[in-house]
Amino acid sequence: MGAAAESGQSARIVLLGPPGAGKGTQAQLLAARLGVPAISTGDMLRAAVAAGSELGRRVDSVMASGALVDDALMAEVVRERVAQPDTGKGYLLDGYPRTLPQAETLAGILAGAGQALDAVLLVDVPEDELVRRALLRGRGDDKEEVIRERLRVYREKTEPLIGYYRERGLLREIDGNRPVDEVTSRMFAVFGMDDGNGGAAG
Ligand code: AP5
Repeated sequence: MGAAAESGQSARIVLLGPPGAGKGTQAQLLAARLGVPAISTGDMLRAAVAAGSELGRRVDSVMASGALVDDALMAEVVRERVAQPDTGKGYLLDGYPRTLPQAETLAGILAGAGQALDAVLLVDVPEDELVRRALLRGRGDDKEEVIRERLRVYREKTEPLIGYYRERGLLREIDGNRPVDEVTSRMFAVFGMDDGNGGAAG
């Protein structure tokens, strides 16, 4: 894909990794370069909470506790979002899927549209660094006990997706415990793109 994505072909990518790994940070940079929207389910849910919508009222306390919103509700949210006109060239999913049933839902959405994923980028970072980053950021759910709960939920519910996507030949592992621009370069390299500064990435 890579240069192809830049020259107009489609790109459908999932960013996987623990809370605080830098998925949101990298999603913006990579999506802009690929010319597709970055779709963050966490951002969508936080916007719903801020707007006081029915969805927001349903997910507010779940998010505050560090638990996951239920799969059926997330399926509705994602199905509607990926059907929007800005996804014509694809999308970069940040924070979805994060359970095996969500991965199956996504596979069904893609199959129904005659599409397939191009890659799943796993961004990994040691746990102490994840907690340090989250405490520095200080979002509503960035209190230490909630961060630890989000990490526990990640290990239990989301880590099985690593094997799921590895078996399907889609997984690409990126060391997220590096400066932001280095992580970005390594992601660009997966797609055969240079780092945007005239040099080859990686
Ligand atoms: P979500 O918003 O997806 O949170 P998360 O996965 O916990 O991810 P974060 O936003 O904490 O981290 P990130 O990896 O995006 O890192 P970031 O770039 O921000 O989900 C929140 C909640 O919504 C969930 O707990 C759940 O309740 C619900 N939810 C969402 N999706 C769901 C789904 N599919 N199913 C069910 N429930 C769902 O970076 C973190 C910090 O580190 C920032 O301050 C950043 O500046 C800094 N940083 C980034 N990169 C680096 C670097 N290389 N070096 C140093 N600092 C860095």
